[in-house]
Amino acid sequence: MRSPDLSLGIQRLGHVALTTPDPAAAAAFATEHLGFTLAGTDPDGSHLLAARGADEYALVYVPGQAPGLDHAAYVVPDAEALERAAAALQARGVAVQQEDGTVRFSTPAGHRLELITGPSTEIPVAHLAEPPALAPAPICPDHLGVGAVDFDAELAFAQDVMGMLPSNRVLAPDGTAVMTFLRFPGRLLYHQLVVASTPAPVLHHVQFTLKSLDSFYATHAALLQAGVEVQWGPLRHGPGHNVACYFQDGAGIWFEYSVEEEIILDDEHYVPRTWSIEDPHVIDEWNSGPPPEALMGPPPGVRA
Ligand SMILES: [Fe+2]
Repeated sequence: MRSPDLSLGIQRLGHVALTTPDPAAAAAFATEHLGFTLAGTDPDGSHLLAARGADEYALVYVPGQAPGLDHAAYVVPDAEALERAAAALQARGVAVQQEDGTVRFSTPAGHRLELITGPSTEIPVAHLAEPPALAPAPICPDHLGVGAVDFDAELAFAQDVMGMLPSNRVLAPDGTAVMTFLRFPGRLLYHQLVVASTPAPVLHHVQFTLKSLDSFYATHAALLQAGVEVQWGPLRHGPGHNVACYFQDGAGIWFEYSVEEEIILDDEHYVPRTWSIEDPHVIDEWNSGPPPEALMGPPPGVRA
């Protein structure tokens, strides 16, 4: 049976706003080492940073007590779509705040999401971008990972309220959920949100897409040259099949730069794959080494 169409008309992730006690320092790190350019500052001390994608800015550092997620903003194509999405969320029992062309709401774990209007793209933004001449060259955020203590509630919200489709299930040896990657229908990308089972409702990681494998390796080299400690990768994820590396930004938040993500052409017939976290090829098909424990937790079998 075909599942009901719960689509909110969301196309893509537009920007991610992160809290940090020192937005200016985090922004300086991003411009000097990570390939972003300063797009502006707000009177409240927020720093807006541009990547190379469709939007004026793709990353924001907001003043806050501790490093974490302020909000993630997903893009719908126009004001009409925004109104429809707000009405659909309310009809599904979600408390929404509408202000200045923004629809704000929270997931069950308390992660703040926004819907905004932005350039409509038929295909993923990085597919439209010109090959960069320089590195590092992040183009756009395509997903972020959020942690939830109540994994099932967070997953149900993504599917039943936000209209996302699961692209996989990653399970612990005892069959409990570790992670699920989710996508918006008709948008080709394998994942635009990761829900992870975590002991606290933390931001797991923020991802930016690069143009090509050439750009990925040039970016990886430029990060190392700049003194950025790349703590995991280059590697190739099983789920999503993307080539990735991980490091911490100036605020200590985990960033993933990745490329060559699997695309899903046929949502109706795509069969989500179930992976066991015990299979080392889940996190890295190349099996290049263990992930940082601060990012992925203790190895399988050592999990509490
Ligand atoms: Fe990721």
